[in-house]
Amino acid sequence: MERREKRILIVDDEPMITDSLKQNLVEEGFTVDTAATGAEAIELFDGSAPHLVLCDLQLPDTDGMSVLKHVKDANPSTEVIVITGYGTVKGAVEATKAGAFYFVEKPFDFEQILPLIEKAMERRELVAETENMRRQLSTRTEYFNIIGASKPMQTIYETIEAVAKSDANVLIVGESGTGKELIANAIHYNSLRAKKPFQKVNCAALPKELVESELFGHTKGAFTGAHADKDGIVQHAAGGSLLLDEIAEMPVELQPKLLRVLQERSYRKVGSERTYPADFRLISSTNRPPADAIRDGALRDDLFYRISTITIHVPPLRERAEDIQILTEHFFKLYARKYARPINGVSQAAYGRLFAHDFPGNVRELQNVLERAVLLAKGTKIEPVDLPFDNGAAPAAASPQTAAWEVPPNMTLEEMEKIVIEKTLQRTGGNKQAAANMLGIYRPRLYSKIRKYKIESGSSATA
Ligand SMILES: Nc1ncnc2c1ncn2[C@@H]1O[C@H](COP(=O)(O)OP(=O)(O)OP(=O)(O)O)[C@@H](O)[C@H]1O
Ligand SMILES: [Mg+2]
Repeated sequence: MERREKRILIVDDEPMITDSLKQNLVEEGFTVDTAATGAEAIELFDGSAPHLVLCDLQLPDTDGMSVLKHVKDANPSTEVIVITGYGTVKGAVEATKAGAFYFVEKPFDFEQILPLIEKAMERRELVAETENMRRQLSTRTEYFNIIGASKPMQTIYETIEAVAKSDANVLIVGESGTGKELIANAIHYNSLRAKKPFQKVNCAALPKELVESELFGHTKGAFTGAHADKDGIVQHAAGGSLLLDEIAEMPVELQPKLLRVLQERSYRKVGSERTYPADFRLISSTNRPPADAIRDGALRDDLFYRISTITIHVPPLRERAEDIQILTEHFFKLYARKYARPINGVSQAAYGRLFAHDFPGNVRELQNVLERAVLLAKGTKIEPVDLPFDNGAAPAAASPQTAAWEVPPNMTLEEMEKIVIEKTLQRTGGNKQAAANMLGIYRPRLYSKIRKYKIESGSSATA
């Protein structure tokens, strides 16, 4: 335990006590503040955030309990040792209940209180460490093969965790390539059905006439070409999960049947009256906003309500630009390993191009771009020439392209710099590391410019 950084606040109105305690504690290497009243104590506490508070229960302006409560409300990991004057065990017990670490009765000597202080410090350290660990765990950069540290991705991880263990129907909505299937996998493999099959059907890929028999199976002779009895996917998914991909493309005529299966938890094969139990957890996905599909008559609203007990919206990559960097790192390393290429990085200018791109194909597009770049790169770094964006979309640091914008008259260089920084931060979704890369400056310089120009730099920045 490094004592030098340990700060203690002593609160007592008897200078005899505070002075001698302070002297002893300073000799032990602690940093010590003293207060004679409750008001002074609270002010000092708020200002200096001590690790430990030693507090008399009897103070001239208030009682020690209110100081204790203030401390515990403001920072629960701060330990408090209560000092009592009259052997009033009652007050001391009350204080312990309110979160005091321990109490000592006056008069006490230093040898008695020092071990208590050390113990309290130790406990505070542990609590702080646990808290720290919890906080670190809760900003995840990766979850079940899903890479992403942005706020919306954190929310998605939390949602998956919250719903996976239930049998709730989940609808995943997001543009193509945003990772809907990865999310569906994470739900299934986090659920109690993880060891049972996970069946996936792309509703858009099946011929209209075959969807029903593919899903529910058919009996021999049910239709031309049905030469034998056949189990459907629902049968194969028994006990596990079923992913209906592109649910908005499911033939409208079939939708009431699926709805009935979900309501009655049983199904019939095509050509048979016999019912079988339907034991699967349904996950659906769509890259078409459900409201549009319902409006266009492609998706029945009664089915929609049934399948979307929980809806997960996956934002497009351009709306979480702060994930571009971490995904880029992940993919270039992945492909460098796969193709045994000696790539060890992505140049600032290449990052600039990546951050400036819109990624209509989302993460899938980024992944493809990097696979190609790893194969094309001549040196050890991926450079702008290795990227397929050649339409001047990115005014990268290495190749400034000013044609895209007019320089307004009567503007100072500083005014322009401010605008450029603001625009760049907008582009990167507030990510300062990404913006610094794009602008070709180091992050500390960007920070000082942000301060200088008083730029609202957003809160989503993780870097
Ligand atoms: N957050 C992510 N982390 C790592 N890889 C991702 C991520 N999101 C998507 N990918 C990768 O991008 C590709 C597309 O992902 P996925 O198939 O899950 O997208 P989708 O939303 O289902 O797309 P579609 O609507 O076209 O079916 C996959 O190779 C997947 O591994
Ligand atoms: Mg998909």
